[in-house]
Amino acid sequence: MRIKLDENLSMNTSRNDSRAWRVAILGATGMVGRTMLTCLASSSIRVRELVLLASPHSAGTVLNFRGSDVPVEPVSAELFRGIDLALFSAGAAASGKWAPVACAAGAPVVDNSSRWRMDPAVPLVVPEVNAHALPPRRAAREDGGAQGALIANPNCATIQLVVALEPIRAAFGLERVVLATYQSASGKGQTGLQALAEERNEGRAHSAAFPAPLLGNVIPQCDIFLDDGYTREEEKTILETRKILGMPGLAVHPTCVRVPVDVGHAEAVYLETSRPATAAAVRAVLALAPGIVLVGDSETPPFPTPLAAAGTDPVWVGRVRTDRCEPRGVHLWIVADNLRKGAATNAVQIAEAWWEREG
Ligand SMILES: NC(=O)c1ccc[n+]([C@@H]2O[C@H](COP(=O)([O-])OP(=O)(O)OC[C@H]3O[C@@H](n4cnc5c(N)ncnc54)[C@H](OP(=O)(O)O)[C@@H]3O)[C@@H](O)[C@H]2O)c1
Repeated sequence: MRIKLDENLSMNTSRNDSRAWRVAILGATGMVGRTMLTCLASSSIRVRELVLLASPHSAGTVLNFRGSDVPVEPVSAELFRGIDLALFSAGAAASGKWAPVACAAGAPVVDNSSRWRMDPAVPLVVPEVNAHALPPRRAAREDGGAQGALIANPNCATIQLVVALEPIRAAFGLERVVLATYQSASGKGQTGLQALAEERNEGRAHSAAFPAPLLGNVIPQCDIFLDDGYTREEEKTILETRKILGMPGLAVHPTCVRVPVDVGHAEAVYLETSRPATAAAVRAVLALAPGIVLVGDSETPPFPTPLAAAGTDPVWVGRVRTDRCEPRGVHLWIVADNLRKGAATNAVQIAEAWWEREG
């Protein structure tokens, strides 16, 4: 069902702008999908029709967008015809099935799942870092039709990491990154957030959502274990960081940890630059970098936290200090809302980059 939006409610931009897009969101009922709806509503993109898609399980659900009620419907191929932007956040299996269908129908797709991220033909984009990798929204096909572009949105832990790494790389070079993540329950979607709430509110020992009780605990496992003892989340952090920064040989050493926090991922990062970098010089670079809020040592508290970052769009950086043993070593504490900059905000920023380019 195509919901035509009230002209007065469908825009958040100049009255002279006659452009407006038909937008689809696959996975609209999920943690990220609902946040995409919020981020799209506050974006500069003018939306004339909105198609909200999920599994048959969500039939009957109604979500609000810029004051209009929009029903959620089961995904099907014909719904992608005429779509100007499709935001996907329904997991890797659904993306594997529906992204080729949507793109072939001419719909440009920004996919939030892991399915296409490491495909060499698919750009993996964080606008503050590699907006240059973003192709046009559509390309002409030999048969005269239009092919929608497919763009991958990176993993949440990777996005906040590369936003902080890129300005340091550009200024001082980058040799090595060692990090431990502190990832919230909502990183595992609705199931994860609900499991933590049940442990907290109902005293439930723990659910299948996590491999151990999460309340009062920390779990050094996000996603499944691979043969060499790394987890898939750690593998994603390594491979995606290299791809986005365009540094295929970069040494990245992650340990990914789940913590009993609702929303917001934190990362303790140690990095080594190619050229010596004082803490003051790194702070000066970060203070001017796009998408970053630097929390100064004189602020109260003098560091960002997930609780403070939840519901916000920037990547928050604090605890910037040079290493005591290694002159090219720098420590950072990086925090972001995993549902926003770690997922929905980044996807909508990609869409906004298209919107602005096409003027
Ligand atoms: N949570 C995060 O912090 C985060 C960050 C970055 C990336 N991601 C990625 O974003 C995606 C969604 O994550 P989430 O946290 O929002 O998960 P979620 O809360 O579990 O939501 C999943 C969404 O996908 C829909 N869906 C599942 N299978 C489907 C199918 N076969 N066909 C159509 N719709 C289907 C669900 O619809 P129903 O409600 O109808 O079941 C729901 O709308 C995942 O790929 C995840 O890895 C998540």
